[in-house]
Amino acid sequence: MSQIDTERQLAVLGGAPLTEQNVPLGQHNFPDWHAYEAAFRDIFNRQYYTNHGPLAQRLEASLAEYCGVRHAMCTTNAEIALVLAAQALGLRGKVVVSALGHAWTAQSLLWADCEPLFCDVDTATGGLDLGMLESILAEDRPVAILAMNAWGGADNAAALRELADRHGVALYFDSAQSLGARTNSRRLGGNGAMEVFSLHSENLLSGAEGGVICTDDDALAAHIRNIRSNYGMGNVIVPVVKTSNGRLSEAQAAVALHNLQRIDEYLARNRSLFDSYSAALRGVPGVMLWQPGDETAEPTHQNLLLRVDEAAFGLSAAELALALRAENISARTVPVWLRSPVYADAARRHCQDETQAERLAHSLVQLPLGARVSVRQAEAIGRAIAALQAQAGSVRAALRRG
Ligand SMILES: Cc1ncc(COP(=O)(O)O)c(C=O)c1O
Repeated sequence: MSQIDTERQLAVLGGAPLTEQNVPLGQHNFPDWHAYEAAFRDIFNRQYYTNHGPLAQRLEASLAEYCGVRHAMCTTNAEIALVLAAQALGLRGKVVVSALGHAWTAQSLLWADCEPLFCDVDTATGGLDLGMLESILAEDRPVAILAMNAWGGADNAAALRELADRHGVALYFDSAQSLGARTNSRRLGGNGAMEVFSLHSENLLSGAEGGVICTDDDALAAHIRNIRSNYGMGNVIVPVVKTSNGRLSEAQAAVALHNLQRIDEYLARNRSLFDSYSAALRGVPGVMLWQPGDETAEPTHQNLLLRVDEAAFGLSAAELALALRAENISARTVPVWLRSPVYADAARRHCQDETQAERLAHSLVQLPLGARVSVRQAEAIGRAIAALQAQAGSVRAALRRG
């Protein structure tokens, strides 16, 4: 049962914030400074900043081994990687994406001259609603499914593969936030034609910035390498119409390589923070920690999502986020990009009315979990949430007064 801190006055009711310094969202894992300094000295000694240097090559080999795939190809960031993936698959036409998707997923399709087609989600898992997906595949004849593994979780790849194969469409994954997660006991990387990961610093494995495309397909890998940079430099040149400069620099590769060596430590810290939140919130009515994915998923806990039942908790997810921000705790609601005017046509077909994705998104609050959060802070945030629930009526009135 959570302990409610009765001594402390909540910030939204006029008390001092829970912490002086803001507690941020995101993983923000930094490698050991001395290791990074040595790696940087080597970069200077070699006088080699970029163009698929020795560190970028070593990172690709290490990531291929970690993800259990034949090829891992690093890029400037994950959005560029998603655009390259669509180009390498030769996609033309409609591509199914999740209605819960992040902005970049659908944006990558616009850059690749494809048309996103939103599919609703299963509110239990956050994965694509397989019934709706089946009818979209039959009626709208998309050329591919761009599925999403988000917030450190994993969608059921086997079920998606079966549907994609039966309808003869390509399947690839935006797994930007889920490097290190597993489904069916296998680490993500080899699902579908390709999986794309992000090395942005909010994610488990940071390269300061960066993206990774994983595949077991030799021809696709050759194609990606060719359009990624320098017109196939060092590789067999295959004919492509569009190329891009999507390289990863040696400095980024050094950060990612050193972070990769410590990934088990980061995973253990995430687990322990998750458990601390879980203990602190036990017994608080109307909130539960929510992990995307079904029973086959082993998440990395890189993002902590709290699912709020407004009737039982007394505040909506958006109100809870506001009240926590007053405490100097970064708390974010989940934006629904599908309602952006850019996607009006894409949403019209299947997602005209309020979707399950929106209902799910509107019930979620993302809380800090990462290198800049201590176990004591996680416990204190849990107690603050319990106190907000206990005084929900006054908190709501205070928020309404502004
Ligand atoms: C689901 C998803 N896809 C793509 C991206 C884009 O990643 P990047 O910032 O590396 O371009 C992000 C970024 O967080 C993401 O969350």
